[in-house]
Amino acid sequence: MKRLMVLIGSIVIMFSCQQADKPAQAVEDMEPDENAERIQTDSISGLVIDENFELIRGQCTACHSAMLITQNNASRDGWEQMIRWMQKDQGLWDLGENEPKILDYLSKHYGLKKKGRRAPLTDVEWYELKDEL
Ligand code: HEC
Repeated sequence: MKRLMVLIGSIVIMFSCQQADKPAQAVEDMEPDENAERIQTDSISGLVIDENFELIRGQCTACHSAMLITQNNASRDGWEQMIRWMQKDQGLWDLGENEPKILDYLSKHYGLKKKGRRAPLTDVEWYELKDEL
């Protein structure tokens, strides 16, 4: 009887080990969602991580927190103006050949939002407000 219990016990254990492999398999089988945004941010600076992340972290967080960047949105021109202003008044150095890369990064990740929460109304038929109630 004892042996039978051990045998049953080990069959149960073997079976549950096989089951344990399944979830990992299921994750591999999942289709990537094409629409999902795969944006990773650095846990310390909050900056979006992409190929030029380290350049921006190196050049743009020496004087102030990266939060000044992450809370801003501007067009490429807007970012260029901010850089010119910091160069003129705040002691920011010449960014040289890094400048276009920095502007690409900033306008890509902290650019102007293309869409608001909804498109503005068009073709609205307005009516006159009457004075008398
Ligand atoms: C030499 C120092 C220095 C460096 C390097 C520097 N900044 Fe600044 N930046 C400043 C100062 C000073 C301010 C004003 C801070 C304040 O108002 O508290 C500022 C302000 C800003 C602001 C806020 C502007 C506004 O109008 O509110 C942004 C955005 C910014 N910096 C982005 C950047 C970016 C992007 C880089 C990298 C290219 C960078 N900074 C590198 C000194 C620097």
